[in-house]
Amino acid sequence: MKNFLSIECSNRGEIESLVESAAGLKAARDSGDLTLRPLEGQCWGMMFSKSSTRTRVSFEVGIGELGGTAMFLSSRDLQLGRGEPIRDTARVLGRMIHGAVIRNDSQADIEEFAEFSSIPTINALTEMEHPCQIVADLLTIHERIGGWAKKKIVFVGDGDCNVARSWIWAAKHLGFELVIVGPRGFCPTDDYLAAVDAPNVSCVNDPLEASVGAHVLYTDVWVSMGMEEEAARREEAFNGYQVNAELLAVADSNAIVMHCLPAYRGKEISGEVLEDHAETIFSEAENRLHAQKAILLSLTTG
Ligand code: CP
Ligand code: NVA
Repeated sequence: MKNFLSIECSNRGEIESLVESAAGLKAARDSGDLTLRPLEGQCWGMMFSKSSTRTRVSFEVGIGELGGTAMFLSSRDLQLGRGEPIRDTARVLGRMIHGAVIRNDSQADIEEFAEFSSIPTINALTEMEHPCQIVADLLTIHERIGGWAKKKIVFVGDGDCNVARSWIWAAKHLGFELVIVGPRGFCPTDDYLAAVDAPNVSCVNDPLEASVGAHVLYTDVWVSMGMEEEAARREEAFNGYQVNAELLAVADSNAIVMHCLPAYRGKEISGEVLEDHAETIFSEAENRLHAQKAILLSLTTG
């Protein structure tokens, strides 16, 4: 892979090999083996214009463990924040650093950065997708329930957000059943679904009906970063779209609960369900580190 910009632009083979590589890197780290250092002598820039706990820390730790140096570049400090064009920023950084990890509000900008910098570029979340999250999630599903083949994954909540979209493309490439359940107006548009063209992906509005037989109940915040002014309207619309004991009661008896985090107890997930499934949810967070090391490795070694 040259860049990792979306699940949409990935394919089945790439996703499967990233998950396999992440599992191997996790096993090596767990056994104390951190000898693999393909980023030795490299400096990776991390350009973030939005908050982050997991993504920032896991990339900084991961780049370091692979032998490289991470340079955090807040958009508040870069001239980008004062109007320097993305393509000029890319052409400058491309001559100085070895790779870029970008979190912003514009998929188009990270694609432009990748094109003009000519260095490996990773999407650390945009308004369109959160692809690194999905690799970590698939590793978690592999560990917890043996994989995604013939499994039913139900995404509860904002079906039109970045994480949901990455899930939709993952289902398209990998073939598992994905049900997106959200209130009207917060589901992927018909045009989007038509473009994806995946018969294994459906969108419904009834959370109880959607959760019947689910192997994975997955949720994300009701109010994504940048949507804060819509918070009141969203909280009203999403009332009832909570992963809780009621949904788990109709899911598969071995169903797991996943959350990309941060979590808001009492909103998209009940406090009780979050604590009962904390081992899965926080392993999912840890898996960001292993998944992103696999992504870095694949961009470095081809
Ligand atoms: N899940 C996730 O991307 O978390 P952060 O926003 O903390 O990076
Ligand atoms: N959909 C969320 C994901 C946070 C990791 C957001 O964009 O804020």
